[in-house]
Order: sequence, then structure tokens, then C-alpha cells
Amino acid sequence: MAPEEEIAIEEARVDEAVERDSIAISVRGLKNSFGDQVVHQGLDLDVRKGEILGVVGGSGTGKSVLMRSIIGLQTPDEGEVHVFGESMIGRLDDEALAIRKRWGVLFQGGALFSTLTVAENVEVPIREYYPNIGAQLRDEIAAYKIRMTGLPAEAGPKYPAELSGGMKKRAGLARALALDPDLLFLDEPTAGLDPIGAASFDEQTRKLQQTLGLTVFLITHDLDTLFSICDRVAVLADGKVIAVGTIDELLATDHPWIQEYFNGPRGRAATAAVARESGKRADPPSDGRQ
Ligand SMILES: Nc1ncnc2c1ncn2[C@@H]1O[C@H](COP(=O)(O)OP(=O)(O)O)[C@@H](O)[C@H]1O
Ligand SMILES: [Mg+2]
Repeated sequence: MAPEEEIAIEEARVDEAVERDSIAISVRGLKNSFGDQVVHQGLDLDVRKGEILGVVGGSGTGKSVLMRSIIGLQTPDEGEVHVFGESMIGRLDDEALAIRKRWGVLFQGGALFSTLTVAENVEVPIREYYPNIGAQLRDEIAAYKIRMTGLPAEAGPKYPAELSGGMKKRAGLARALALDPDLLFLDEPTAGLDPIGAASFDEQTRKLQQTLGLTVFLITHDLDTLFSICDRVAVLADGKVIAVGTIDELLATDHPWIQEYFNGPRGRAATAAVARESGKRADPPSDGRQ
């Protein structure tokens, strides 16, 4: 083999390793179906380490099922899922368990245990994965996680029913952060919040992601969230990820759903709001709408 060829092969190997090291989640050829209904078919997606990846798509396109497939709550008909380089499908061994400990999940709707206080909710994963941690340390960890999400310490002994919508979401976030995850899954975290509550939750997510170096898989309908905190956005349609990239990159594609979604009146308003926030002047919409 000529020396240049050897160098080229070595470079390809290095590129592959760099690529592998920079990917937190890799999904290939995913298929999910329920009876006759095929939800995903040939779905591929990479989530890069350290990014906030927004996941969008019409209602019922399989965003939550995709998340459930990645975290092992839904066994796919076909395909592969790797998290931090480990295959996750059908794995219940120690290595898979070690990866599970590295993620936290905020389910759609929050899904707090209503009979447990906020602090007890946060302690659930600690009890499950670290049964030897004593009660006092567990309480301290819970109190610390509660404060990290911007909730007051007094929220700890409260029951979910005593909390506002925004506080419930933060309590769910505190529980997702219980095990110091590297990877955070958030399923529609700002749904049902008023715009101020939603913006404040987004800001908290961004702050946590930056200070803790988290990778975030963020399912959302919220255009403000997509524009203000997502590094890239993946679009689900027709059972696949039809496009993934920055919003500018997505806008450069001519897919009708993407154009309608980001360039419709609500998308324009979100663009204008983000531009205002960053002190820039928004491009005026060509038809005068905001
Ligand atoms: N456990 C289940 N059994 C049967 N159908 C399901 C189940 N979970 C999800 N589905 C169906 O799969 C499709 C995608 O669901 P989902 O991922 O929840 O959508 P969304 O993109 O709104 O989060 C929907 O049509 C839903 O009805
Ligand atoms: Mg959903």
C-alpha cells in the first residue's frame, strides 16, 4: 500500500473516532409500529454531545415514542440505538445500567407521584439506583436539586397538587437531575405554561445545560423554545427525521411542513422576538405580518 493510502485510511479512522466521541445518541433504521399503524420506519438521528437538540413534528408523529425507544421503554421492531457508544436495545446488563444512570427524563405532563412530596419525588431515582445512600445525604441531594431548578427550598415538603404548573415542571426537572445526568430528555416541558413561565423554564434549561455541560433531547411545540435555546432542530414527519440542522439550515430547505411551521405567522413572531432580545433588528416580514 502506498504511504498516502495508509495515511488516508488512518485519517478516516481518526475521523470516525472523533465522530463517535462527539455523538451522545445515535439512532439507525428505527422502526416502531402498533398493530397496523407504523409510527417510525427507517428513522435515523444523531444527537451531538453538549447540544440542545429540539425535536419537532405534528401531533402523533412519534416524538414521544422516539424518546421512549431511546430510553428503553419501547422495544422497536427494527433498528439500533446507541447512547454514549453503547447499544441500548434489549440490554439489561451492568453496562446498560451504567448508561441509564447517566440520563434524566422529564416526561410529557410531568408525571410526578402525587402522593409524594417534591423532595420525595426527587429522591425516587436516588433510592432506586443508589439504595445505600443514607436518608440525610439523600435529603441534602434532593434539596440541592430543588434549588438548582430555581424552586424555593420551601417547595421540598409540598405535594404536587399544591404547586403551580411552572413549579410542577421544575419539580419534574429536579427529579430528572437527581442522578447528576450527562443527558437530559425533556418531553414538551413548556406545554401548558404561560409565555413568561415558559421563557423562564427555557432560560433555566439553557443555564443548566451550559453550567453542567448537559446534552439535551428536547421535544417541543414551542417555537420560542426552538428559536431561543436549541442548537439544532430535528423534524419528524412521515415516520422519519426528514431534516436536522440549525433553524437557518432548515429554512433553506423547501419542505412544505418546515416552511409552514417556521415561516408561518407564529414562526415569524418568534424570530422577531429572538432578534429583539439579542438587540438586533428583525427582518421585517415581507407581507407585513408579525
Ligand atoms: N403504547 C401505545 N399503543 C398504541 N399506540 C401508541 C402507543 N404509544 C403511542 N402510540 C401511537 O403512536 C403515535 C405516535 O405517538 P407519540 O409518540 O405519543 O406522538 P407525539 O409525536 O405526539 O409525541 C400516535 O398515533 C399514538 O397514538
Ligand atoms: Mg408526545
